Amino acid sequence: MKRFTAVCVLSLTSLVYACGDGAPHTHRRRAPAAITPPSRPLEWGDINVIHTTDTHGWLLGHQKSSSPEPNYSGTFGDLSSFVTHMKAIALKKDVDLLLVDSGDLHDGTGLTDGYPAGGTDGHESNKFFSQLPYDLLSIGNHELYDYDVTLDMYKNFIPQFKGRYLSSNANITLDVAGKRVSVPVGNRYAKFKTRKGRKVTSLGVLFNFDKNDHNTTVQRVDDMVKERWFVDAIKEEPDVFLLAGHMPVEKDHWPTVFNAIRKVHPLIPIMILGGHTHVRDCSQLDSRSMSLESGRYMETVGWLSAKLDDNKIKKKIDFSRRYMDANRVTYEYHTSLKESDFDTNEGKSITSGLIELAKKFNLGYFYGKAPHDFTLNQDRYPSAGSALTLFIADAVPYALAQNNPRAKITNYIIANSGSQRFDIYSGAFTKNDLLTASPYDDNFYYIPDIPFGLAKDVLAKLNKPSAEKDARAYASGYIGKRYTDWLRGQKRRLGASDSATLGYVTQDGCPGVGDDTSHTPLPYFDVPDFISSRPPSVTDKTPLDLVFVDFVEDDIITILNSIQKIKVFNKADAKKYSTVPLNQAIGIYAKAKWN
Ligand SMILES: *[C@@H]1O[C@H](CO)[C@@H](O)[C@H](O)[C@H]1NC(C)=O
Ligand SMILES: *[C@@H]1O[C@H](CO)[C@@H](O)[C@H](O)[C@H]1NC(C)=O
Ligand SMILES: *[C@@H]1O[C@H](CO)[C@@H](O)[C@H](O)[C@H]1NC(C)=O
Ligand SMILES: [Zn+2]
Repeated sequence: MKRFTAVCVLSLTSLVYACGDGAPHTHRRRAPAAITPPSRPLEWGDINVIHTTDTHGWLLGHQKSSSPEPNYSGTFGDLSSFVTHMKAIALKKDVDLLLVDSGDLHDGTGLTDGYPAGGTDGHESNKFFSQLPYDLLSIGNHELYDYDVTLDMYKNFIPQFKGRYLSSNANITLDVAGKRVSVPVGNRYAKFKTRKGRKVTSLGVLFNFDKNDHNTTVQRVDDMVKERWFVDAIKEEPDVFLLAGHMPVEKDHWPTVFNAIRKVHPLIPIMILGGHTHVRDCSQLDSRSMSLESGRYMETVGWLSAKLDDNKIKKKIDFSRRYMDANRVTYEYHTSLKESDFDTNEGKSITSGLIELAKKFNLGYFYGKAPHDFTLNQDRYPSAGSALTLFIADAVPYALAQNNPRAKITNYIIANSGSQRFDIYSGAFTKNDLLTASPYDDNFYYIPDIPFGLAKDVLAKLNKPSAEKDARAYASGYIGKRYTDWLRGQKRRLGASDSATLGYVTQDGCPGVGDDTSHTPLPYFDVPDFISSRPPSVTDKTPLDLVFVDFVEDDIITILNSIQKIKVFNKADAKKYSTVPLNQAIGIYAKAKWN
């Protein structure tokens, strides 16, 4: 079912819209026929929020025809049209509508990461964000991995939001008149009035992230709430606290911020817009607050509304939340507009600008035609449908063997499954698809003469569960575990299938049903953290080249020294195996095998 659905998709290769029958259509895009509309209208309150988070460059939406991708096919231009129409509805209803983003604007697709040499990640794609009427934005960890990116945001992006881009606990260090000064990347807080005159106090908080680049600073959340500026910022009583932050609404540090505010303001409504772990989630820290997290990759647009009791007599506030599938059918349904009346000029110009950007970055560059879907978690590993098998068992061994004098020596290759970021779908496999699926430029190293049995033990050790390692990975920004916990939970709770419709099935901590369109969960399989090439048919004693990505070099050496006593290994024993970096392997393979 997921593999062959005939719908129209935007093709970056030809920059026209092509339908499943192979006939290209240059007319304006039709919504794919297979998308079903939402189940019910949104519940409006006095103050309403449209929420994006972890967009990671997916500004042209999901363009593949394999289900459920078309359900996420809305572009940023479509979102712009939606927001414009929703603002008009809010005006008619005489209520407030705000647009909020919780960070991680880049690292994810070619539109952000496919820039030519000398460019900066996200510099071009960011321009489209400033064309939407965002009321509040907050910084994500992906804005802090690379000083150049943070500096570019600081200089070129953030000033356009006039004090509404917040980084309450993240600083950048700059040279000012020959002196080094640390300043907040955006603003630490914002106070503003809504169209209806409601007073809002906002913060933009990042989780306790520790892999930020030199010359940037992330302050721990529990230290932040003790700062003088924080105490001063929350002192005055607003009508509502609107908190954005790159921090999941389930675990982590929202309660730290929430409790600090509650101590001063026991009754003021607190609306929280979180992010980072890529899940749909909602929780309530008390009956006058609700926290929403709205997924990832422009798959989900969140909705959070509150009916405010301005006199504070009622104990409980009526909130509502919804996870909208990001597509035109959803947007047209909620704005009661026909397809032909939906696009605004700004919306159309944003979409065509993004298509132009894709062209400029040559994202349609064609490697080959993927024979079927390869998924990260919807297929068992190892199997023919697993993107991890494709990568480590087929693509990497092939790509590393090209022009490599060591290729005649038997090898065993190990990589981390987190090195692969997204599924590969049947059909044209382009530069954009490669950047999306396998972006990291790690190199491969090897240690010679490792007995095969020992190499297998190294892999087993790497895959041994460790809570301490998980905590370290999380602090460095890795969220794969939290995201797959969520996927696994959907399957466990709901069983295989009661209908044929695929997508997210959210069970969160808030009353009622959150999903806007009801789905049956996608197939889900756990995959190991570390994966290997096919085992060679040799005995355990046979020496071979143990090949691995440099990302795991330290772990491999530590493990080798802990499980054998013949030799003490150190970094000098690991030598570069190939000039081919990780992010080219599937491209080289596709050129050779998929044409
Ligand atoms: C989109 O989601 C709906 C509702 O679950 C489902 O019926 C449909 O098959 C999905 N469409 C595609 C193209 O995946
Ligand atoms: C962030 O910048 C402010 C303003 O310069 C400074 O007072 C503060 O100490 C900095 N915070 C950190 C954690 O570096
Ligand atoms: C921080 O910035 C200063 C000034 O540009 C530079 O000299 C220094 O090397 C940077 N620190 C690191 C560790 O990159
Ligand atoms: Zn993040």
